[in-house]
Amino acid sequence: MTQQRTETQTQVSVRIDGADVAVPAGSTILDACNAEGIDTPTICYADNLTPVNVCRVCVVEVEGSRTLVPSCSRVAEDGMEIQTDSERVRHSRKMVLEFLGSGVDLSQADEINAYSARYDADVTRYVEGHEVIDEPIRIQDDLYIRDYDKCVLCYKCVEACGDDAQHTFAIAVAGRGFGNRISTEFDATLPDSACVYCGNCVAVCPTNALQFKTEFDLRHDDNWHEDEQTVTTTVCSYCGVGCNLELHVQDNEIVKVTSPVDHSVTHGNLCIKGRFGYTYVGN
Ligand code: SF4
Ligand code: SF4
Ligand code: FES
Repeated sequence: MTQQRTETQTQVSVRIDGADVAVPAGSTILDACNAEGIDTPTICYADNLTPVNVCRVCVVEVEGSRTLVPSCSRVAEDGMEIQTDSERVRHSRKMVLEFLGSGVDLSQADEINAYSARYDADVTRYVEGHEVIDEPIRIQDDLYIRDYDKCVLCYKCVEACGDDAQHTFAIAVAGRGFGNRISTEFDATLPDSACVYCGNCVAVCPTNALQFKTEFDLRHDDNWHEDEQTVTTTVCSYCGVGCNLELHVQDNEIVKVTSPVDHSVTHGNLCIKGRFGYTYVGN
């Protein structure tokens, strides 16, 4: 009986697109949408990061709320009436996607481009005659490159480098307005910065603004064939922590390494050895 009461108290019920959904108290609206099988677009949200709420592509309508609310960070409350696919929601998501495309290069942002197709967003709509981000690609080592022409300022890399994962704080948002950029301290080159090359920022970047150098070189040679790659999960051989590695292999060569986000120990994060120390395999 006591157990039953506790369960009742720790659940909240919301109504989403006309369906009743019960989720544990403290869940976000996004969690409730997921529980109901509703595919909600997200850009700045990741399961392994604290929501920063900056992209606004996940907005939904909540009855009684004057403005649309970001589902990724708004906690679900008992009795909420939520609309995830109303005209207002669709229009807002479309606008967000078109504005994103107005200043940055989304050519390698596959997930964002799929959202644009879903919401009929023309990401080239505001490009003509307007300023776009145009900077030299930062190639400062053999591990990963930074191409901020592709950056949508989702903050995920900053979060991953900071207290959500790495606690290195090598990067932050610098500048104001159109001059906003992700930057190392005083824009130092990566080898001269606090970066420890864990690559956890690369792993969460949704646009390929941060990219393995191997991938960058293959794309440059028009030889990046993701659909032909295999992914093999294995255990890192460098130390006893036992992180899981996902080896992305093309033409019998490892071309990049990721880690499963749903792993209870590493949550998708690795250190430099697991992430980049794979070239010995091909020797
Ligand atoms: S590689 Fe690691 S330490 Fe370097 S900027 Fe990215 S998250 Fe920070
Ligand atoms: S570099 Fe990538 S992860 Fe970082 S803010 Fe830009 S788009 Fe987001
Ligand atoms: S995913 Fe919710 S604000 Fe970006």
